[in-house]
Amino acid sequence: MNRITVNFRESRGTINPNIYGHFAEHIGGVFYDGLWVGEDSRVENVHGFRKALIDSFKKLNPPVLRWPGGCFAETYDWRDGIGPRAQRPRRVNWWYYCDGRVEPNEVGTHEFMDFCRMTGAAPYVAANMTSTTPLHIRDWVEYCNFPAGMTTLADERARNGSPEPFDVRLWGIGNENWGGGGQMTPEMCAREFIRYTTVMRSLGTKQLRFIMCGANGHDVEWTRRLMREWSARRWHEVETYGVSIHYYTNQGSKADPLNFTEDEWYDQLLRAAFMQQVIDDHRAAMDEFDPDRRIKLIVDEWGCWHRDGTGPSKGYNLFEQQSTMRDALVAALTLNIFNNRCDVVDMANVAQLCNNLHSLYLAGGEHFVETPNYYVFDLFKGHQGARQLCLHMDVPMLEREGFRPTPRISASASEKDGVLTLTLGNLDMTASQEVRLAGLYGSIAGSAQVSVLSADQPTACNTFEEPYAVVPHTSDLHLEEGAVLTLPAASVTLVRVQLAQG
Ligand code: AHR
Repeated sequence: MNRITVNFRESRGTINPNIYGHFAEHIGGVFYDGLWVGEDSRVENVHGFRKALIDSFKKLNPPVLRWPGGCFAETYDWRDGIGPRAQRPRRVNWWYYCDGRVEPNEVGTHEFMDFCRMTGAAPYVAANMTSTTPLHIRDWVEYCNFPAGMTTLADERARNGSPEPFDVRLWGIGNENWGGGGQMTPEMCAREFIRYTTVMRSLGTKQLRFIMCGANGHDVEWTRRLMREWSARRWHEVETYGVSIHYYTNQGSKADPLNFTEDEWYDQLLRAAFMQQVIDDHRAAMDEFDPDRRIKLIVDEWGCWHRDGTGPSKGYNLFEQQSTMRDALVAALTLNIFNNRCDVVDMANVAQLCNNLHSLYLAGGEHFVETPNYYVFDLFKGHQGARQLCLHMDVPMLEREGFRPTPRISASASEKDGVLTLTLGNLDMTASQEVRLAGLYGSIAGSAQVSVLSADQPTACNTFEEPYAVVPHTSDLHLEEGAVLTLPAASVTLVRVQLAQG
């Protein structure tokens, strides 16, 4: 029988809450008719943002939200999104060539900061490094962070309705600069990053955290070259907080998120499991130039990338896709990997929040649903800021040609405020699995709660017509050393245990 032993004595450290980060770009339906409905909408809203989404998102304790892109960031001029909304310009959005939609700039810096304030997420702003100047980005930082009365830009912010600074600490400089962000070489990218951040230094604040754009997927050589160039220029003393990579579990543009075979189920999950190799290999390349790990590894876009057209807008919203239990398993697997590698991953941002890839929400007009991905984030939220606990896994491997084997059960555990959080994913598409839990002897104070996210079919999803087809079910469990849990086929399970004191 499968056996998982919790080792309370062995830990790789604290799970940074930012691993549970999010991403919202100005693309397709993420903002317009997704997060944002406008103040005059018939849809219930708070300052123009969809109220149902705010209420739901808040429950996840979202630590951080990345904005405004993605690729969009690389042609974005922040000045388009400030001042009276009616007077803001309409612009050709980065994605216009795909969907012909223009950017109305109804959501700009102030609205985004308002959304962050209402939901408790810290802002992580992705700045344009391709089509503007370092000074222009420095001005944005000054506009956001300087006290009113001190500079003209800070006064402008105050006149635009926000006397209090936004205090934005996380600044990504550039997005996918190997591709849409200027098709740069890693050397160019590092030099541009240094050029930009050197200008930022004049702002004189140590609290700013600059993040350099890193590689695509498993392109470790890109990271090595980027880091080599960065380290050769280190005498500039530019503060560099992290390097960000993107990794999507992409089966190709034709992959159907709703109708998949057993082979495609396992293919998708094994691609997701490869995340562990991706982060380990990038970290190893970074370690060659940064052995003390002063620079953090960040995965600021991840998720499943299926073909368009299966979401409620039927293709109108670019990249909008439905999410099934398979996507939920990808989320659980990925978050378990991040938890178990909390000494390697500092922040991660699932792409994207609403009406897009691997979304937590689908919305349009009056309609709003939480996808299975949402429930995974809800089940896993107890890990945020918790002390990771190592697990001994005695579980058979899932093996398929062309992929590295991975355990048939994905798991991670952590401890915080006297509560053990154990999250499990049964990767088996058709069979339930029994697992014996060990290592708990003497640690349990009382009953445990078990929440299970599963469905009759692995292809199950939530739609406007059937919004609660996939929801977790919670029950109490008398847990003792050696207890056996049954994990339904294709399911995600949370075990929450009140621990004995001392
Ligand atoms: O998330 C959609 C797009 O995917 C982002 O704009 C880009 O950064 C990535 O290629």
